[in-house]
Amino acid sequence: MAVLVTGGAGYIGSHTVLHLKAQGEEVIVLDNLEKGHRDALLDTTFYKGDLRDDLLLDEIFNTNNIDAVIHFAANSLVGESVEKPLEYYENNVIGSHHLIKKMVEHGINKIVFSSTAATYGNPTRVPIQEEDPTIPTNPYGDTKLAIEKLLQWADGAYGLKSVCLRYFNAAGADPEGRIGEDHTPESHLIPIVLQAALGQRDNVSIFGDDYPTEDGTCIRDYIHVLDLAAAHYLALRKLNNTRKSGIYNLGNGTGFSVKQVIDTCRRVTEKTIASKTAPRRAGDPAVLIASSSKARAELGWIPKYPTLEEIITHAWNWHSKHPDGYND
Ligand code: UFG
Repeated sequence: MAVLVTGGAGYIGSHTVLHLKAQGEEVIVLDNLEKGHRDALLDTTFYKGDLRDDLLLDEIFNTNNIDAVIHFAANSLVGESVEKPLEYYENNVIGSHHLIKKMVEHGINKIVFSSTAATYGNPTRVPIQEEDPTIPTNPYGDTKLAIEKLLQWADGAYGLKSVCLRYFNAAGADPEGRIGEDHTPESHLIPIVLQAALGQRDNVSIFGDDYPTEDGTCIRDYIHVLDLAAAHYLALRKLNNTRKSGIYNLGNGTGFSVKQVIDTCRRVTEKTIASKTAPRRAGDPAVLIASSSKARAELGWIPKYPTLEEIITHAWNWHSKHPDGYND
């Protein structure tokens, strides 16, 4: 039996594929390579195409013995989603609708869905728990929440069991350096700071230093991408064992400010990294920290690389050896 991974050539998808294969799972990837990288797939069975291509989905489900789906394929930039909501609803919500419809038609009844902390919007408390209000402040978070809701209704109507994983700030890279993070353009804090360490940027802009936090900069919960990957495997196991749907936060439960991240990058890289204060970025909550006690209790998830030093060390290992990212 195989697992279909949509968006398996992307950052979190490709690390999950690596982890699944290390656990002995047979993996098939579907990716349109708009954002993903062929080189991130290593030697995985691969279909190039779009989620909205019903004929391609039929072919994949008819010719492979697929038991479950892990669904990453999506547009995932908060700022871009505010500028292009039509594109985000089209790719994320309509794309997922096609996938779920075809899963139901082909009798595939397990899915692990890549969701986000952006479903919460401005948190009412930290650490955030799964039952807290979900009021997204951008189309990206709204599309992910819409898909979570469709999955909940599909459980009742068709018996499709789902685990939705709400990631906090994914970071780091494969500790063995085989794959890593490569977005164009890059918008995430840690790769941007490491680009400055490599001399590819003059400095790092700190988006706001007047937030109600100790040093005035935003606090986030950074989680190693391989710890996220491991949670997907555990989620599949839970679906196999319990046949019960659920929603889980994935974070370390510890927050670091933008300034703390930059300082840790300076220590790890031993490079001079210049920073300057810039205006706040629209829509940034001051503090986002996960409570992942539900994932720990119900999935048996224990992050293996919980320190910011380890996360940044693995990211630096990748970026310093691949300063221009993937070739393909
Ligand atoms: N930041 C800077 N300068 C930069 C880049 C980022 O100061 O050049 C700050 C941001 O303002 C924010 C923090 O660094 O305070 C982290 O920013 P990222 O862009 O790395 O991550 P976000 O917290 O904005 O977004 C992440 C995921 C999204 C997800 C969101 C949930 O990347 O996919 O968390 O809130 F939706």
